[in-house]
Amino acid sequence: MNAAMTLPSTFPICRSVAALRQYVGEWHRQGLRVALVPTMGALHAGHLSLVARGLHLADRVVTSVFVNPIQFGPKEDFAAYPRREAEDAALLAKAGAHALYAPTVDVMYPEGFSTTVTVDGVSEGLCGAFRPGHFAGVATVVSKLLLQAGPDVALFGEKDYQQLQVIRRMVRDLDIPVHIEGVPTVREADGLALSSRNAYLSAEQRSVAPTLHQTLATAADHLAKGTAVDTEVAWGTSQLLAAGFASVDYLEVRDAVTLKPVSVVERPARILVAAYLGKTRLIDNQAVVPA
Ligand code: PAF
Repeated sequence: MNAAMTLPSTFPICRSVAALRQYVGEWHRQGLRVALVPTMGALHAGHLSLVARGLHLADRVVTSVFVNPIQFGPKEDFAAYPRREAEDAALLAKAGAHALYAPTVDVMYPEGFSTTVTVDGVSEGLCGAFRPGHFAGVATVVSKLLLQAGPDVALFGEKDYQQLQVIRRMVRDLDIPVHIEGVPTVREADGLALSSRNAYLSAEQRSVAPTLHQTLATAADHLAKGTAVDTEVAWGTSQLLAAGFASVDYLEVRDAVTLKPVSVVERPARILVAAYLGKTRLIDNQAVVPA
């Protein structure tokens, strides 16, 4: 942590559900609206845009940092996932957040924990097909975070678009009394979506990475004018492989809300991609609005 990023001694870090509830309960007693920004830490400008939007929608913002083991597959990067709580806390304090909730794995999943939340439909296909159990892990931890904090609003980035739709569906189905706010993706100047995993890219891979966004943007433009989905998917996949992506898990066009496949865009849709640059899996998506 550099000198410009010291943590004010008054910035609260809650380690237990009871401590978190004490803060949120007191804010609610004062009639204040509370926003929750769930994250896995290694915070960047994308996360801070969620905090900024939270400050706009609520009087108090609490951010959770928890690298959730149950949403990682056995061959995924749980152990390597960046953990920098001190820097994260300093960034949050500077961004105007009011508290950090940083539970340990034992607090989140105590001995004997046996419950899983699964969301059918929107969890299937796309990342759900390539990361078995991932969305059940996300839905389980997000439902717990919502019940632990009891916020009025919770904010999630559109970069994880399927995740956002899974959470919206879950909150509706389980009558969880919270407004879910989706926040647009923050991008580098060359279009690359901000992600904690961008840190894994070599300099050469980093120079190729913006092709992901450029390809989606061009395909979305064509689709909005009525091009067939199959044509754009074939074109986009060949563009990515030619640019240097090692493989494409999926490049698909789905209904913007239900995430059901579409063949021609006649109502709001989303083009979504997951592709590997070396061993790093990047995801991105783009709105397709029919002309
Ligand atoms: O998007 C993320 O960072 C995570 O999937 C989330 C929503 C914090 C759940 O662990």
